[in-house]
Amino acid sequence: MFSNNLIGSSNTFRSVIEDIDMVAPLNCAILIQGETGTGKEVVARAVHDNGSRRNKPFVAINCAAIPSTLLESELFGHEKGAFTGAVERTIGRFQTAHGGTLFLDEIGDMPLELQPKLLRVLQEQQFERVGSSRTTQVDVRIIAATNLHLQQMVEEKSFRADLYYRLSVFPIALPPLRQRKGDIPLLVRCFVNRFNERLGRHVIHIPNELIERLTEYHWPGNIRELQNFVERALITSSGDVLTPRERDLRFIAPVPQTRDVVTLADAERAHIHRTLHETNWTIGGSNGAAAKLGIPRTTLISRMEKLGFSKSPRRSTVDTNVLPDIFSPESHNRSLALSGVLQS
Ligand SMILES: Nc1ncnc2c1ncn2[C@@H]1O[C@H](COP(=O)(O)OP(=O)(O)OP(=O)(O)O)[C@@H](O)[C@H]1O
Ligand SMILES: [Mg+2]
Repeated sequence: MFSNNLIGSSNTFRSVIEDIDMVAPLNCAILIQGETGTGKEVVARAVHDNGSRRNKPFVAINCAAIPSTLLESELFGHEKGAFTGAVERTIGRFQTAHGGTLFLDEIGDMPLELQPKLLRVLQEQQFERVGSSRTTQVDVRIIAATNLHLQQMVEEKSFRADLYYRLSVFPIALPPLRQRKGDIPLLVRCFVNRFNERLGRHVIHIPNELIERLTEYHWPGNIRELQNFVERALITSSGDVLTPRERDLRFIAPVPQTRDVVTLADAERAHIHRTLHETNWTIGGSNGAAAKLGIPRTTLISRMEKLGFSKSPRRSTVDTNVLPDIFSPESHNRSLALSGVLQS
């Protein structure tokens, strides 16, 4: 499904597109929330481009990128002489966006003292320039975005509750890429086409194993990270097959994604399990799992016992004189009962 530059056909993403289609023609405020790189800015543009203001200005301002002391004048403008350096009267972004849309990016960084003034524009479409007592009236649609947990900020009193409720009349939550992995093949194909054109490359084939590998990764940088990966892979591909460099592939080694937040204990368990699997459950010796993990063999054995790992009797290649106890059928059953997880 395509809505402007938005690519995605998974059910998760379809519902986002439906929300955009529903809300775009209306003039209500919108709050877009999502992790970095999930497409908050492209969604804001899509809302503007699909609404009745599409031929009017779309003005974006990043509240985190402008020093808080300058933000007020940047948003609302100032009169000549309003502060040191105000050599002439300047109109702010609200006025520039008149008739169109103002995209307030990183709204969570809006200074608390400025929030009442923003609330007033949202409610009454009125404000005063810095240094002026004359009220200016505008017609601006507000779209705000953040990757911060605004509701929590409200509870901690670092964001005003009234502004939060006013902004979040219609919230759009963008899912992280790891929750819409079904879109990865389509995204990769679209990015390949896009960068082929830009970089003068002629990549046609995307190996299935590569797609599988991309799908296994958890993409903390979301679509931006995937897009950068594809661009880099295209730069390093000389023929018609997408061939990323080995060192770029190493960056996207999958990590266990059983939960969004993995505890240290879970990560250790998964790493030990993966190493055992890779070494065909060989524990000792220079190519064994203990050496790979950089720990003494006896430490690995006791760790395995604690974690409830036991070797599958079918694939036994271990010297049972060295490791008799934990690999015995009784202890295998005991371990199974103890752990119930990650049996190979
Ligand atoms: N659904 C999508 N289809 C195609 N490209 C996308 C999509 N979502 C995001 N992108 C691309 O990913 C990149 C990041 O998107 P965007 O800048 O909108 O993310 P963001 O959520 O605003 O990130 P940040 O929080 O870091 O500012 C952009 O290059 C954008 O074009
Ligand atoms: Mg952004």
